[in-house]
Amino acid sequence: METTFKDNGHATRGVHAKAHGLLRGRITVLDNLPAELAQGAFAVPGTLPVVLHFSTNPGDILDDKVSTPRGLALKIIGVEASRLPGSEGAVTQDFVMINAKAFTSATPKSFLKSLKLLAKTTDKAPGLKSAFSALLRGLEATIESVGGESGTLKSLGGHPPTHILGESFSTVAPILYGVYYAKLAVVPISPFR
Ligand code: HEM
Repeated sequence: METTFKDNGHATRGVHAKAHGLLRGRITVLDNLPAELAQGAFAVPGTLPVVLHFSTNPGDILDDKVSTPRGLALKIIGVEASRLPGSEGAVTQDFVMINAKAFTSATPKSFLKSLKLLAKTTDKAPGLKSAFSALLRGLEATIESVGGESGTLKSLGGHPPTHILGESFSTVAPILYGVYYAKLAVVPISPFR
């Protein structure tokens, strides 16, 4: 954050610095949901307003030609449910999601490794980053053509050049939001996705 502040004079976030848009919408909690779904923020059926914030992972604002994973922050407003100590009286519930089903790093150690690499390359050689990203996209496409996927290549710039509104997002980590744990997802249903 100090590095990006020195470079651009703005206090951008440590990650997910590039925002692509804020959307307002509605979430409908269906009636008669099975017990494992009708819990936490989804315990009471009805329709509530939501705000969605779409972003791209890195902590510096990179050219769109450098394609990296995406983030989605979802805020539900007007939730009636039992709350964790310290949040009594609050009426919102936030979820953070990324367009993956698992976190890039399996252990804190490997997370630190990729973080150090990102810190070293923050705001260095933007032109080179675009070229490198194109190279990584090629490698990732080759891996995906044989049914594989690499979270590391994607986070370094090899993410396929997809439209952010066509992505499926998930909480990545299982969340205990009542008696049951679950990974939650936001998935587009438009035929144009
Ligand atoms: C070691 C693990 C993690 C660290 C250190 C971390 C750190 C951060 C930080 C510092 C921010 C910026 C907050 C701000 O300035 O407002 C952030 C935002 C975010 N994180 Fe994480 N995060 C981690 C794991 C995850 C996971 C597992 C997910 C996926 C579900 C995730 C999704 C997001 C999203 C979507 C945002 C942007 C929120 C927004 O748009 O307002 N993070 N994270």
